[in-house]
Amino acid sequence: MSSEINDLRRIRALSAKLHQHNFRYYILDDPQISDAEYDVLLRELQNLEALYPDAISHDSPTQKVGVTWTPEDFVADKLPSVEHSVPMLSLENAMGPDEVRDWVDRVRKGLALGEEDADPLLTVEYKFDGAAISILYEDGVLIRAATRGDGMTGEDVTGTARTIRSVPHQLQDDSPPTLIELRGEVILKNADFEAFNASRSQEEGIFANPRNAAAGTLRQLDPRVAATRPLDVFIYGIGDQEGIDLSVQQNLVDHIQRWGFLPCPFLREVQGADALVEVYEEVMEVRETLPFDIDGLVIKVQGADLRDQLGMRARSPRWAIALKFPARQETTRLVDIQIQVGRTGALTPVAHLEPVNVGGVTVSRAGLHNPKEIARKDLRIGDHVVIQRAGDVIPQVVKPIDSLRDGQQVPFQFPDKCPECEGPVHYPDEEIIPYCDNLQCPAQIRGRIEHFASRRALDIDGLGEKLIDQLVTENLITRPADLYQLTVEQISGLDRMAVKSAENLLASLEVSKNRPFSRVLHGMGIPHVGERVAELVIDEIENIDALLEATEERLAEIEGLGEIIARSIVEFFAKNSVQEEIDLLRKSGLTLHQDKVEATGATAPLFGLTVVITGTLPTLSRDEAKQRVIAAGGKVVGSVSNKTDLLVAGEKAGSKLKKANELGIEVLDEEQFLSRISE
Ligand code: IVH
Repeated sequence: MSSEINDLRRIRALSAKLHQHNFRYYILDDPQISDAEYDVLLRELQNLEALYPDAISHDSPTQKVGVTWTPEDFVADKLPSVEHSVPMLSLENAMGPDEVRDWVDRVRKGLALGEEDADPLLTVEYKFDGAAISILYEDGVLIRAATRGDGMTGEDVTGTARTIRSVPHQLQDDSPPTLIELRGEVILKNADFEAFNASRSQEEGIFANPRNAAAGTLRQLDPRVAATRPLDVFIYGIGDQEGIDLSVQQNLVDHIQRWGFLPCPFLREVQGADALVEVYEEVMEVRETLPFDIDGLVIKVQGADLRDQLGMRARSPRWAIALKFPARQETTRLVDIQIQVGRTGALTPVAHLEPVNVGGVTVSRAGLHNPKEIARKDLRIGDHVVIQRAGDVIPQVVKPIDSLRDGQQVPFQFPDKCPECEGPVHYPDEEIIPYCDNLQCPAQIRGRIEHFASRRALDIDGLGEKLIDQLVTENLITRPADLYQLTVEQISGLDRMAVKSAENLLASLEVSKNRPFSRVLHGMGIPHVGERVAELVIDEIENIDALLEATEERLAEIEGLGEIIARSIVEFFAKNSVQEEIDLLRKSGLTLHQDKVEATGATAPLFGLTVVITGTLPTLSRDEAKQRVIAAGGKVVGSVSNKTDLLVAGEKAGSKLKKANELGIEVLDEEQFLSRISE
């Protein structure tokens, strides 16, 4: 290469670098180099530009010498257009397994494969639900970023892109390609989205979903706005490239991680439609547990030659397809808003909806959190509303559809009396949730007993909502401890309860007396103390008497607890009614101390074995399962490797189960596990 070409290149690279440093300094308030280092770069550029005056561009960083840059220098009044040198295509959609099988057939035909020929190698990736972006690097330096637009022309979003933490300003590579245009998806993680929406006032409005928030933020004119919202980018493809040949997805994935982008969170190589459908089902299972939204999978044929052979349709390649998951947003009508009274007395509004199918599940109710949330979304009874299912949680009402209002919609008035007991409603300091203060409110009593009897607490078989309702209405119980005083006569006197079922219930109550202390503690319903916290507490404080005496300071020292939980526990146990209740539970013979794990020898059933526990087990909590492994002489580790001897797998086991199967590791369900350790 001639030295002139080298020099001109250097001019471009230096300009880009100096622009970036200006940007970091003035917009992000986070300079990466010292003023002296900046001056060295600027001086070098000035010297080169003196040799090649024709190469001085009007926006060269040298053209502002002596004048201070201001943030406004980086804010556009309109996003400029960018022509894509390689069009940004879209993808054909397959709406489920059948359509993806058709696509595999078409690919086979397109490649003129005979019956005896093997299927082509495919890669499967997540289809990220965000906004597409193209990011251009010259000699490893970020030069420009653009939206997809209509695929031919997008908008320049370089300013915003530079604020994104997962977009390196410079590729981490000693010999970067001359030019590389990376394509990816800008997303906002679900937790960041929730936090962002929660921080918005009614006037500012909220975004309906993380995708809208990401797309809206990306197109902000002022990069300082984007800098306050934690966008991320996942790279999935290449546009233009010079000085490198990244035609295989795996090679791209390796490079992008090395260059400083987020690692690709999911990439599978498969062959054939059956394998594709298996991956589809597997990912559908874990979809809700991912920290970001995906709306399907993208399947791509491996290898540049095969891709060339298959070619393009008008706006999409024949070598790739989006296999979409069922939609999770739908519209329906808000029929009513009713108030639910929880076991703590919290009054939660619940939307009653015209039933609608959302992603395969019929939805007729949705949580509305608190009165402020209703006001913020301006929900009125009778509204047409957008609803969605997010995560494993109950469905949410996203927003009303204003344009469908016809004047019949009625704003919701939050009641000033508890709908269950007519007790007064009050808002504790700084809380936005209203409470019913009456501890004798039947809804609260029912809630406390339901919680105590629930599967993850005392797991009292046969004690369901309806029976609890009757027991409370008949004044037979007002607190969990009363359950253990019930008699066959009392129970069999209730509706649809024969002597036999009464005896069964008493037998279940007997069994529940042997549940471990952590379950009893969880079942007591101490605010902020769930299953996990209960386990952390009893790991250190081993019986109820020590716990009753524990100070806030002592509790706060326990890892995983903080001041708030510690205070909540102390306040709970300070109540006379709670102490009375504990006495009763003790007299009834419940377990109020932690059993010490026995040290075991070479005859123990799991002696010397390394065990991984994954998924949700039907009856044991994670900690209980772990204690049992230890008690049986085994060791519990977090991840599956070829050193693992056993995998105990529950529901939603996901990738660990898959890996164990691949490595041929023995897998047990809870029942098999329990029988193994009792051998
Ligand atoms: S590849 C020619 N891979 O889906 C193929 N796209 O309708 C170009 N998307 O606008 C796209 N995740 O923004 C590809 N892993 C992935 C993707 C992905 C999300 C988006 C992309 C594009 C749209 C296609």
